Amino acid sequence: MQPTTTRTYIKDAKAHLGQEISISGWVSIRRDQGKLIFMDFRDRTGYIQGVILPNATEAHEVGSKVRSEWVVKVTGKVNARPERNIQPDKQNGDIELEILSITVLNESETPVFDISQGIDTRNVGEDVRLEHRYLDLRSDRLQKNIRMRHKVTKLIRDLLDEQEFIEIETPILTKSTPEGARDYIVPSRLDRGLFYALPQSPQQYKQLLMTSGAERYFQVARCMRDEDTRGDRQPEFTQIDMEMSFVEQNDIMALNEKLLIEIVTKLYPEKRIQEIPFPRITYKDAIEKYSSDRPDVRENKEDPNLLAFCWVIDFPFFEKTDKGENGSTWTFTHNPFSGAKAEHEEWLMNAGKDAESDKKIGDILTSQYDITLNGYEIGGGSIRNHNPEKLLKVFEIMGYTRESVEQNFGHMLKAFRLGTPPHGGIAWGFDRLMMLLQNEPNIREVIAFPKTGEGRDLMMNSPAEVSGEQLRELGIQVKKLEK
Ligand code: AMO
Repeated sequence: MQPTTTRTYIKDAKAHLGQEISISGWVSIRRDQGKLIFMDFRDRTGYIQGVILPNATEAHEVGSKVRSEWVVKVTGKVNARPERNIQPDKQNGDIELEILSITVLNESETPVFDISQGIDTRNVGEDVRLEHRYLDLRSDRLQKNIRMRHKVTKLIRDLLDEQEFIEIETPILTKSTPEGARDYIVPSRLDRGLFYALPQSPQQYKQLLMTSGAERYFQVARCMRDEDTRGDRQPEFTQIDMEMSFVEQNDIMALNEKLLIEIVTKLYPEKRIQEIPFPRITYKDAIEKYSSDRPDVRENKEDPNLLAFCWVIDFPFFEKTDKGENGSTWTFTHNPFSGAKAEHEEWLMNAGKDAESDKKIGDILTSQYDITLNGYEIGGGSIRNHNPEKLLKVFEIMGYTRESVEQNFGHMLKAFRLGTPPHGGIAWGFDRLMMLLQNEPNIREVIAFPKTGEGRDLMMNSPAEVSGEQLRELGIQVKKLEK
């Protein structure tokens, strides 16, 4: 038998029973028993146990120096394990690699925490994990999370492609938008004193794509919001963002249910969806019955495999605020670009006419729908307002002057005067969905490189100072303020 010189993946080792193979990967565990040295190897496809017998002198010499997490290329013979050593529940539990030679490709200092097979890093201090995130990511649980995340993204892309959606990237350097959170801003070098904003979502671009005739858009979109971080919130996160033309609320809801059901049945067959079609509850009922606008409607909260999706509809369009523009007492609850429910459009357009009409402002309902899963808001969207006069009215209620609307949203009004079709959409909080599908307690566990609660990247050590030269080019002087 000719020795196999090409790399064999660990998952395929068994197909080479009795043959010589080469594997490449990491040493997970090494147990030196003197005459015999046992080692577990890991590559992206799994684990295999190897053994160096006393007669393999050269391999023995290298094997006695090798430590956990060293990167090696190993040549060996795939043997069946003796009956008494078979571990039926383990991958490759019935075979063993008789190691003939080991080439060290890279050494490793002793890892700061244990990531060997089966070890869950959940109990390791999170700051240490985040500082050495690449090591943490080698652990079984995080490998699984990141790989499943890829599979879910791919399925979504394939399903939306089948439904004739196209993925379109929208800018990251954009303009401040009224999404409700604080913007991250980026100084312009060419236009000193002016700033881009990082997108809180692609909301305006996706609507303008409807004006452009795209009809069915989606994007796996990065969004940035400068808000306090918590378990289900990160300063940057990912949305599965969609927008469609010539649709009604039910079309969007039906499509999204179909997508979510496909994800669960194809990739999480062990999970059960509590109710199909997903139940719908009005905001008013949710508050009355569950005291929450993201109700947890699970019948049994002990069951980790139960997925209780629920739509929340009929949100109020406006809510009272003491920080309104120009003294207005109103602000939007979700999205200023949403349309009012058809039956409340008259109330919207009459607002400001007289005191009697103004009383109705708080009763106007929006076409907004949120989707919740086990008590988390995993998405939200609406049918948009594509009529410029109605959009102006929304901003007028919130106290914006006509000039300030024209200045901030003139591009939207202009587009709406140039043949924008009726449209609507939704965005999922993809990290939250993945957290729930993977039974994780927070979204950091399903994000490759998350930030800490204080918004820091401990691995790259950011945010960080920039050089004086960079600041000079931008025309920025940093004045350190007392905390
Ligand atoms: P919204 O602001 O509701 O809607 O965001 C959509 C979904 O994104 C998730 N989400 C977050 N996830 C992690 N970290 C955060 N900081 C964070 N903020 C929001 C939530 C939420 O439901 N453009 C509209 C969508 C639309 O109308 O089409 C939007 O962004 O799961």
